[in-house]
Amino acid sequence: MTPAAQDEHAIRRRVADAGQDHVFRFWNELPEDSRRQFLEQLAEVDFEELGELIAEHVTNRRPIALPPDLEPAPYIALPVTEDDQRRRERARQIGEEILASNKVAAFTVAGGQGTRLGYDGPKGAFTVGPVSGRPLFQIFAESLGAARRAYGVSIPWYIMTSRANDRETRDFFDAHNCFNLARTEIKFFTQGMMPAVDKQGKLILARKDSLAWSPDGHGGSIRALARSGMLADMAARGIEYISYFQVDNPLVPPVDPVFIGFHAEARSDMSSKMARKRDPKEKIGAFCLSHGRLHVIEYSDLPDTLAMARNPDGGLKFPAGSIAIHILSRSFVERLGSGKRFALPFHRAEKKIAYVDEKGNPQTPSQPNGIKFETFVFDALPMAERPVVLEIERQHEFSPVKNATGEDSPDMARRDMIRMAAEWFEQAGVPVPRDAGGEPKFKIEISPLAARNAEELKALIARQGIRGIGGDLYIGPEDV
Ligand code: UTP
Repeated sequence: MTPAAQDEHAIRRRVADAGQDHVFRFWNELPEDSRRQFLEQLAEVDFEELGELIAEHVTNRRPIALPPDLEPAPYIALPVTEDDQRRRERARQIGEEILASNKVAAFTVAGGQGTRLGYDGPKGAFTVGPVSGRPLFQIFAESLGAARRAYGVSIPWYIMTSRANDRETRDFFDAHNCFNLARTEIKFFTQGMMPAVDKQGKLILARKDSLAWSPDGHGGSIRALARSGMLADMAARGIEYISYFQVDNPLVPPVDPVFIGFHAEARSDMSSKMARKRDPKEKIGAFCLSHGRLHVIEYSDLPDTLAMARNPDGGLKFPAGSIAIHILSRSFVERLGSGKRFALPFHRAEKKIAYVDEKGNPQTPSQPNGIKFETFVFDALPMAERPVVLEIERQHEFSPVKNATGEDSPDMARRDMIRMAAEWFEQAGVPVPRDAGGEPKFKIEISPLAARNAEELKALIARQGIRGIGGDLYIGPEDV
């Protein structure tokens, strides 16, 4: 046998042993090129891992076992007393020193498929600036540019993409001259992919010569950081802290000295920001403690008896919602990413997955027809020592673009950006005209390159002599 034939033989064996040889249904029709690419795909599948996942999540599926004895997780609440204020100030100083000594990297997970938003392109290219039309990536880049200027250092920015959007993401940055950040400071890398299966646990064919692949979840970032060499790159640069955020939240501060300071002071492996849940059934995960370990329990898994439980003072017993902003210590990610088996568990997600039917005709299902396997970054929390949970004000830091309309939509994110800009103007002493409902009458937007907070805005306003707002207003870098 030629080496190629040997390879084919070995792969076919593995596929057959896994009970998946239906994937060769169209083999005889495939041209040589497609055959080779298809074999390459199949060679990528870890059939041992896949078999275990199918048994656990498809064929012998059992109800989800929640961690036992869930209690509310402790957190650092918003400051009330002067002592609280002093603690935050101390954390800020610690964080600023760490930033100024070049130990922090920004890290965006941008490998998702953004199906709910339904935008044709990488989500980071979505234009969300209410006046400027700046895309999400530009907003983060400007925040990092402003932080770079404030701390006098470069802050490397790692961006995780997936096979489906990597090329487009890189092209987008190139087309915009990396939004004036140094090209060498931005590192792209791709996350892992997992093949999807049908409800009987059989691999789905997306085409006659291709499996249906999907990214392995934001938890895949842990494995991908290690496998891509990015952790080694961070180590070489002396990075100790990874500031993790998602691509869909225009309000996120990509690096926050207070958060970094609390994390470092506690010598935490992984820390998280939390916002008070808007209502008991809000669709965000809840921070819980089980036998001293921190967990995020997904809203769909948290039993009503816990989600609705109240304290004697009437407040929610489990108020702490996860908003997907974390600091990860590099040493912790190294530990998690180094084992042979991936440290984070896979979850089952029922999705609509395009496929080819028995005759080879492409089909787009209207109902979920298959199962994707995904990992979640917050599943690293139970393994983290000394995790810190920090309460923040939602309206200042969290307004994700998830859905095309309604809650968590671009309209809501724009509204929240405008509200925050209005608040800063008012704090800086400039009145903001408001409508009967109390919303700002005009669209207002501020680039972090112009001002990062109300104080900086006040200085800018004084220089520019702005006394009032009479129409839509964008304060951009050229206004400084
Ligand atoms: P979501 O869970 O909101 O998924 O991702 P999504 O892919 O953006 O959108 P839907 O569910 O298809 O509508 C939250 C964050 O995690 C990233 C996303 O890019 C987003 O920043 N993510 C998600 C990844 O990087 N990889 C994944 O495999 C999944």
